[in-house]
Amino acid sequence: MATASSIEQQIEALREQLRHHEYLYYVLDAPEISDAEYDVLMNRLKKLEGEHPEMLTPDSPTQRVGGKPREGFAKMAHSRPMLSLDNAYNEEELRAWDQRVRSGLPASEKVRYVCELKLDGLSMALQYGAAAKAAAQLERGLTRGDGSIGEDVTSNVRTIRSIPLSVAAKKLETAGLPQSFEVRGEVVLPQAAFLKMNEERVAAGLAPAVNPRNAAAGTIRTLEPNIVAQRRLDFYAYFLLRDGDTFLPTHTETLEALKTAGFRVNTHAKTVDSIDQAVKFIADAEPLREKLGYEIDGVVLKVDATAQQRRLGFTGKAPRWAIAYKFPARAAITQLEDVLFQVGRTGKVTPVAALAPVFVGGTTVTRATLHNADEIARLGVKIGDYVNVERGGDVIPKIVEVVDDKQHPRGTKEIVFPAKCPVCETELVRVEGEVDWRCVNSSCPARVREELLHWAARGVMNIEGLGDAMVAQLLGQSAVLEELNAQGADEEEVAPVVPRTALIHSIADLYRLKREQLLSLERVGEKTADALLAQIGRSKEAGLARVLLGLGIRFVGERTAQLLAEHFGSMTALMEASVEDLEAVNEVGPKVAQAIVDFFAIRKNQHLVKELAALGLVMTAEKRVVGTAMAGMTFVLTGTLPTLTRDEAKSMIEAAGGKVSGSVSKKTSFVVAGEEAGSKLEKAEQLGVKVLDEAALLEMLKTQS
Ligand code: IVH
Repeated sequence: MATASSIEQQIEALREQLRHHEYLYYVLDAPEISDAEYDVLMNRLKKLEGEHPEMLTPDSPTQRVGGKPREGFAKMAHSRPMLSLDNAYNEEELRAWDQRVRSGLPASEKVRYVCELKLDGLSMALQYGAAAKAAAQLERGLTRGDGSIGEDVTSNVRTIRSIPLSVAAKKLETAGLPQSFEVRGEVVLPQAAFLKMNEERVAAGLAPAVNPRNAAAGTIRTLEPNIVAQRRLDFYAYFLLRDGDTFLPTHTETLEALKTAGFRVNTHAKTVDSIDQAVKFIADAEPLREKLGYEIDGVVLKVDATAQQRRLGFTGKAPRWAIAYKFPARAAITQLEDVLFQVGRTGKVTPVAALAPVFVGGTTVTRATLHNADEIARLGVKIGDYVNVERGGDVIPKIVEVVDDKQHPRGTKEIVFPAKCPVCETELVRVEGEVDWRCVNSSCPARVREELLHWAARGVMNIEGLGDAMVAQLLGQSAVLEELNAQGADEEEVAPVVPRTALIHSIADLYRLKREQLLSLERVGEKTADALLAQIGRSKEAGLARVLLGLGIRFVGERTAQLLAEHFGSMTALMEASVEDLEAVNEVGPKVAQAIVDFFAIRKNQHLVKELAALGLVMTAEKRVVGTAMAGMTFVLTGTLPTLTRDEAKSMIEAAGGKVSGSVSKKTSFVVAGEEAGSKLEKAEQLGVKVLDEAALLEMLKTQS
């Protein structure tokens, strides 16, 4: 029988191997074994750890997706503020900065610059702390937040494969790193991963993310680490701190040390002796842009010597020793050939520009959104006009302006916004004060189609096999109708309202589908039919949060749906909630609360929920346990607290059973006051209500629990 220590050795050896291969694959981009071989090692380790849970350590490669979905992110202060950079938009501004740098230093000193690509992602601080055997271990990942306080996204950061979960003692030693240190850098979503994610979103009827940066930022704030793990984020390191400060003599050495310690450092970095060489680096970097596989939006120059950095110091928000040279936005001129009108899930009609194909920002663009009727008016654009199309790293290109000198006065045609829905012919409605025209027919085939696609989407009800084509078939829509949905409202061409062969007319109908019905569809065999039915059946168990998300209530995204589900615990409780009850939920404001109440006031929606419940969908969630320590106490929060946000303080009080109110009265038990507390504090003093600071509140929460 294997002894405990030999098993421990096996486990450690497997971990070492896996870490090494992860490093080769994710950091160096140079794998030495196949994915299948990697999986074999991983499975062996999982098995051993499963048999010996006492030997599990948090930095094991099996623990990248260990975190449970969380309710929100805690706020944490940065070891030193995460600043932003001043920008230069042309060579002149760049040279002016170089002048300022050199005049800020003794004339006799040489100045070297490190040129780095400006990665278009989101900045992240990774804190490592001492672990067993003199190694360092990833303890915390913080977003930039407001620069002073970030969000603790550790469980998500741990899923990024190019981020080491630990750094072995030996590596620390060769890199010259202490056991506790902080690495700062950029989290990016590579283009391939971004395109894949958007393809899936579009196939599922969801709006595509605007650009990789937004997608990365959204992903890192997702509440489910396993979704983050699927998205394949990447991390490039560019800063190294000890006790909140840089400590190696030069930035060049800092980058080297990061590399040695196993972090991914962007390979396109160069140390130069003069601003002329930096200008050359920039000129070379711009054409690189289309080939990198990830977005960059400029070049960052940093003074190399740490001592010089210290002497130059900071202005209010940015270091004097660094500057961001921003590339110009990528734009091109092309002709507007036509305008199509698309009907979305909520009935909103969006005008879409059909453009003569033009190559801009690395792809051929044929479509651009025109947003709404106001935007068309603002641009003063007509069909046949030449327009300037811009892509600022965004997938959805934008028409910036009409190009005057190329206007074709003879050929242009006014854009006529349709009066009727291009799909079901219902009169379009524009709510007073809103810009959008909507099709208000809730059975409009275009709307039902979008509703179904949203319901089935990954991250919503996850019904695999229910994509564009299948939904069209189930609705009895041919490709022709889909095409029409995107056409101008030419009255003669409009398709029948609901084609006769539709198998379903609503989300609830999905759960009534019969095997024979599916088999009657073209190109649907037994295997496809059974798989789809199994997927639909499985989705019944998705739970309240997913159902809420799937219903497509305005402003209710993944996070809000989760918070609502945890707060109310059941659909019934949620549907009975008043605006006030809803606003008591952490992060739910008046606008969201009203949207929820409005949604459930509509008979059709009530009916749908009833049907779904009767069809066996799970409409409950585990309720967050509310403590009783502060039961009966009412708090009023005022001013800015040193570390907690309002929402956090509120949810902590509520978690202990207390109530948070907006105004001070005699019934108020405590006022929690931060900096710049105003009239509420005065009122508290007048009424003799006890005032606490944040520390006292935290102390109270601690002793109460
Ligand atoms: S250095 C105090 N280096 O650009 C200096 N930033 O516009 C802080 N960024 O917040 C940043 N690539 O998120 C630095 N090679 C790079 C960068 C980089 C991208 C981002 C970073 C920062 C923003 C400032």
